[in-house]
Amino acid sequence: MGPVTTTTSKTTATKGPPLAAIGRPWQHCGDPQFGNTCVRMTTKASLPVMAGLVVQQLQGYLPSLPAAVNATGLVLPAMHALSKLVVLGSAVQGVFGLPDAAARARREAVLTKRAVDSYIENQRPIAWEKLLCNIGPNGCAAAGVASGIIIASPSKHDPDYFYTWTRDAGLVVAGLVDSFAHNYSSILQTTIQNFVVSQAKLQTVTNPSGRFADGTGLAEPKFEVNLTPFTGEWGRPQRDGPPLRAIALTRYAKWLVANGYKDTAKNVVWPVIKNDLTYTAQYWNETGFDLWEEVPGSSFFTIASSHRALVEGALLATQLDTECRACVTVAPDVLCFQQSFWKQSAGHIVSNINGGEYRSGKDANSILVATHNFDPEAGCDSTTFQPCSDRALSNHKNYVDSFRSIYSINRGIPQGKAVAVGRYAEDIFYNGNPWYLATFAAAEQLYDALYVWDKQGKIDVTPLSLAFFRDHVPSVSTGSYAKGSSMYNSIVNAVSAYADGFFEVAAKYTPSNGALSEQYDRNHGGQTSARDLTWSYSAFLVAAERRAGIIPDSWGAALVKNSLPSQCSRAQVAGTYVAATATSFPANQTPNPTPTPPVSLPNTCANPNEVYVTFNERVSTQWGETIKVVGSVPELGNWDISKAVTLSASGYTSSDPLWSLTVPITGNGKTVEYKYIKISNGNVVWESDPNRRVTLRGASSQGGCAAQSVYDHWR
Ligand code: NOJ
Ligand code: NOJ
Repeated sequence: MGPVTTTTSKTTATKGPPLAAIGRPWQHCGDPQFGNTCVRMTTKASLPVMAGLVVQQLQGYLPSLPAAVNATGLVLPAMHALSKLVVLGSAVQGVFGLPDAAARARREAVLTKRAVDSYIENQRPIAWEKLLCNIGPNGCAAAGVASGIIIASPSKHDPDYFYTWTRDAGLVVAGLVDSFAHNYSSILQTTIQNFVVSQAKLQTVTNPSGRFADGTGLAEPKFEVNLTPFTGEWGRPQRDGPPLRAIALTRYAKWLVANGYKDTAKNVVWPVIKNDLTYTAQYWNETGFDLWEEVPGSSFFTIASSHRALVEGALLATQLDTECRACVTVAPDVLCFQQSFWKQSAGHIVSNINGGEYRSGKDANSILVATHNFDPEAGCDSTTFQPCSDRALSNHKNYVDSFRSIYSINRGIPQGKAVAVGRYAEDIFYNGNPWYLATFAAAEQLYDALYVWDKQGKIDVTPLSLAFFRDHVPSVSTGSYAKGSSMYNSIVNAVSAYADGFFEVAAKYTPSNGALSEQYDRNHGGQTSARDLTWSYSAFLVAAERRAGIIPDSWGAALVKNSLPSQCSRAQVAGTYVAATATSFPANQTPNPTPTPPVSLPNTCANPNEVYVTFNERVSTQWGETIKVVGSVPELGNWDISKAVTLSASGYTSSDPLWSLTVPITGNGKTVEYKYIKISNGNVVWESDPNRRVTLRGASSQGGCAAQSVYDHWR
């Protein structure tokens, strides 16, 4: 990156970019055309407003404004440390004058805050516009895209992102609903509802990951924009899609309930959510590709998203006078597994396990868990990886530090200051650059933490989080600092400035027109990979909301954070998938807030006649062979092998060749006959006679619901 200059309207012609560029709102940053300098300008038209604003802001801060600034009209608030000094020059130094590091830091923080305020103010409408452009059928960049379908990017080659990814769409819609719930908009409501309708259809589309009938098709990562399957090679399945979509739709369902439209939530939205929850409860423990579509294994992001979806889904079910017993049964096991990604000795999450261990594991994967699973009611809980937990803060430091030396645009930025961050240090996709969405998430986690500290009235510095805090307040030691104490204030000031620093980095590498691609170049900051990435705009908007203190609803983390089983088991519950039939929403469901009573996780069973039977079959198999259970009840296919239930080998090892699954069977007290079958090269091998028998007895277990296990060996 070359030197950074900030220009005023008077000087652009001589010192700034070519005159031809002046009509554009902001000049490109990192554009070789301008010698790789970063120059930001406003249009002439917006100048008075902008200058007025900046002047006003500065007046609150400086006793007297330097004449030069007044006279020229400051063009655009400077976007980073260097230009701030250029803009304010010696006047500021004169005012602050203090050599003292603390005073310098304070001054720097205030300037950063103003620069970021302005960036956000300019960028927000652009981000909204460009995000909505990527949604069919009417989005300006979404010609030919089906109604409600969200494309990842309008880029059709190098790379081709003109598809809809379930993950990107789920995350984007979660942000849309948040925003919508905060500030009603009929346009957003239509967009959200179109999305729900589109997903009801998409769930049923057979694709290379599988089909709807047994749920396997739900984990297909991406589809064509006209809702047909994408049949090329890809890293599939990706099991974060269903829980992320469930989370997004659950938020809208909760809004509907809270505004008096429970029937709509139950009849139109819930059937779609239910399939995704059923999928999650059945397949969460199977390996799959991570969110970056590269590593087959177990991904922290996927597991944490699964846990959250199950908990929030179970709570929603209660609100809708139904239940998700599979959610309640499985969620503690998922949370239990989630803990195993933590590497205490290194102080960070290892984002991929059961595959991908050749990497350090420091990955935006974990930062996105902290931000997307933020629950403002859960305090600084580390079990659910809350943003202000000592684990998540230590992880944040380790993650950010892993990028300090590898990107040349970070050169010279001291420890403790924000830098450009990407997916993970070993990344080579498009040369492995910083990503906007990662940069915004790094800021967002800190805004979330600041919110909770303020709410709980204290900051705890533990041995684990000490290194994080020391980067910002070197004199801090472990302890609890109450709101109002000077240490509390120092930390809050420093962390606020640090958070804003990530926005400043993004601002510095946001080009003149406000477009946000997927990546910005590690060497010169110019945009690269897919242009106008929907997820980048969403990440900006959500982080900006958190910065403004607009926070999401609780999802139930506080209710479950203490419910870790002492030993992890791995229940996977077989499900039934039912196509959601609702294709439209009632008109005029406008805001009508009615108090919704708090709900708690169910601990009784709606249907005491239903028994969760866990089949455990020990049988050595070859790669490619499958074990199923078939039997005398409909849940076991009524002896029809085409309806047999496939067991999971996720617990299989050579020393313990376990195939297992939990199957809900109705008929407490009755005796069920069954047998296991082995599918090998399309051939069916039956166990020897006689049939096995189990009497459903319904000893109560998790949630007080009837459950039992059988343990068998192949014969
Ligand atoms: C496309 C994926 O979307 C991206 O995440 C990945 O890095 C590349 N393929 C290379 O595997
Ligand atoms: C590549 C990213 O790695 C992946 O997470 C994303 O879903 C696709 N690009 C589409 O944006």
